[in-house]
Amino acid sequence: MALATSSLIFFLLLLPLLTIAQTTNGRVSVGESLTASKTSSSWLSPSEDFAFGFHQPDKNKDLFLLSIWFEKIPAKTLVWWCVDKNESPVLVPPGSAIKLTAEKGLVLSHPGGAELWKSDIAMQEVAYGVMYDSGNFAIESRNSDKLWQSFDQPTDTLLPTQIMVINGQLFSRKNESNFSQGKFRLGLLENGNLDLNSVNLPTKLVYEEAYYSSGTNDSANSSNSGFRLIFNESGDVYVLRRNRQRSSIGIGAALPTPSSDYYQRLTLDFDGVFAQYSYPKKTTGSGTNWSTVWSLPENICSRFGQIGSGACGFSSICRLNDKGRPSCECPPGFSLLDPNDSYGNCKRNGELDCDEQISPEDAYDFKVLPGVNFAGNDYELYAPNYDMQHCRTACLHDCTCVIAVYYEGRCWKKRLPISNGRYDSSDKGMALVKVRKGDLPPTLPKFPKAGGDKKQQIFNITGSILLVKLLTTSPSPVFRLDYSGIVPIYGGIPPLISLSQYGNHV
Ligand SMILES: *[C@@H]1O[C@H](CO)[C@@H](O)[C@H](O)[C@H]1NC(C)=O
Ligand SMILES: *[C@@H]1O[C@H](CO)[C@@H](O)[C@H](O)[C@H]1NC(C)=O
Ligand SMILES: *[C@@H]1O[C@H](CO)[C@@H](O)[C@H](O)[C@H]1NC(C)=O
Ligand SMILES: *[C@@H]1O[C@H](CO)[C@@H](O)[C@H](O)[C@H]1NC(C)=O
Ligand SMILES: *[C@@H]1O[C@H](CO)[C@@H](O)[C@H](O)[C@H]1NC(C)=O
Ligand SMILES: *[C@@H]1O[C@H](CO)[C@@H](O)[C@H](O)[C@H]1NC(C)=O
Ligand SMILES: *[C@@H]1O[C@H](CO)[C@@H](O)[C@H](O)[C@H]1NC(C)=O
Ligand SMILES: *[C@@H]1O[C@H](CO)[C@@H](O)[C@H](O)[C@H]1NC(C)=O
Repeated sequence: MALATSSLIFFLLLLPLLTIAQTTNGRVSVGESLTASKTSSSWLSPSEDFAFGFHQPDKNKDLFLLSIWFEKIPAKTLVWWCVDKNESPVLVPPGSAIKLTAEKGLVLSHPGGAELWKSDIAMQEVAYGVMYDSGNFAIESRNSDKLWQSFDQPTDTLLPTQIMVINGQLFSRKNESNFSQGKFRLGLLENGNLDLNSVNLPTKLVYEEAYYSSGTNDSANSSNSGFRLIFNESGDVYVLRRNRQRSSIGIGAALPTPSSDYYQRLTLDFDGVFAQYSYPKKTTGSGTNWSTVWSLPENICSRFGQIGSGACGFSSICRLNDKGRPSCECPPGFSLLDPNDSYGNCKRNGELDCDEQISPEDAYDFKVLPGVNFAGNDYELYAPNYDMQHCRTACLHDCTCVIAVYYEGRCWKKRLPISNGRYDSSDKGMALVKVRKGDLPPTLPKFPKAGGDKKQQIFNITGSILLVKLLTTSPSPVFRLDYSGIVPIYGGIPPLISLSQYGNHV
């Protein structure tokens, strides 16, 4: 009896402690709020792995974004942010506040009081909010029904235990620090496929042609079709079919084990690559960073067709870097439209002039880019057995021709804007880029005047390499020539392709 009484007393003593623990451990009470500032606090999950609060995306701009991030990772990695009905990030000035209310759930308001955003909740009274250790922020009723949750409104990232249903989608952001909608979408379609598509901006029209598809559809028998994208607690990713079969995404990926030692995320990156990332929870040094477990598609540069600009901007050339990511470069004679946006469009330095008084031979030259192709934008094809010399001449004497692509006796003329430029070392074709002679830096040796065999040599790969050889005194093999050796071919524009890769063609 005495024992029972003392247990009861002990339990009663403990009760308020438990309540306190609950309100501070991930729980947010109705009436609580956070104010946007450089030093604003946040609502933490019990493990403190995730935080909900205001993030300042650009240190030079006094604007804040309501978001959720990995709290213990120094490089702030957002997993969710607040968007309006048009999927635009809701950037707010300092002094704006987010408050949990009983009627509307979360309400974001301007310092002046105007309502900027609110969570759309069912007509029920809010009891509290919870920042869960999964990274999900939920608004719940008295019986713990989730009236709203961030997991239902994904932006560009999914976390373990987060599920995507039919018609669910992720959008890429514009770039690392700009959370505006980018030009890529991941969607689980009605037909059961998990597809990656590019998107037209600003209309948000999703171009039908997918640059990756899981192939988990079966139009003949819908019970074999996918209907959920699952990212489970162990970090496995699969499309679940209606017949309960699982189709792995990122097949063959070796997951870090055990998964409890790693943070994990799936992100549709701004460059169009969809990747699974992991990050060790116990970091060993300052060099720790997210590492890619797998990424899709395999070679994003080669995946785009006729419409849209592909992974890079228009008139840009995409090359897969050693991390499997697209890097973009403007062709010689072109430069970035926005010098700060290296994934953006390139523009010609000066127009091609169809009313030119001087002869095209005097006005233009060509730069040869081995392994470079531009898919689409063809308006003329010369074939078969057309040689490179004639290809060049055909483009030279056509003032609308900007670039010609030459491949085994075939010559395509291209006009602006050229799209889906790509470099592939195994591609035996090449792009001939028309450049104004004045564009050549004055210090460079001039190409010999057009005419006869010499011209043939210059605009044929072997010929180009020979020319480089003549211009340098280096006795080393041609494909080891240093940077300056490339300049005559690229006219001083940083080379897209290092010369070592020319070795394949020699
Ligand atoms: C982000 O990019 C979009 C689209 O290019 C642009 O309109 C917007 O001004 C940018 N936002 C910021 C904060 O730089
Ligand atoms: C799956 O969808 C693709 C188009 O997205 C279609 O070409 C293919 O035939 C479909 N496969 C099946 C088994 O229905
Ligand atoms: C659909 O496929 C399932 C196997 O996944 C099979 O059991 C079922 O009979 C099929 N239905 C039809 C109509 O073919
Ligand atoms: C996650 O999915 C994989 C593959 O289907 C399975 O082997 C594993 O047991 C699952 N983990 C959990 C925690 O359900
Ligand atoms: C981690 O990677 C990101 C993106 O690649 C980069 O911005 C950041 O500087 C890296 N952090 C560290 C500590 O290397
Ligand atoms: C992001 O894009 C904007 C253009 O919208 C550009 O001004 C900015 O420099 C870019 N930032 C990075 C980190 O590339
Ligand atoms: C590019 O970025 C720099 C530094 O961030 C800025 O000063 C400059 O105005 C930007 N240029 C453009 C064209 O946006
Ligand atoms: C380039 O020229 C060399 C020698 O003039 C010739 O052997 C070779 O076949 C030519 N290559 C092409 C692609 O025309």
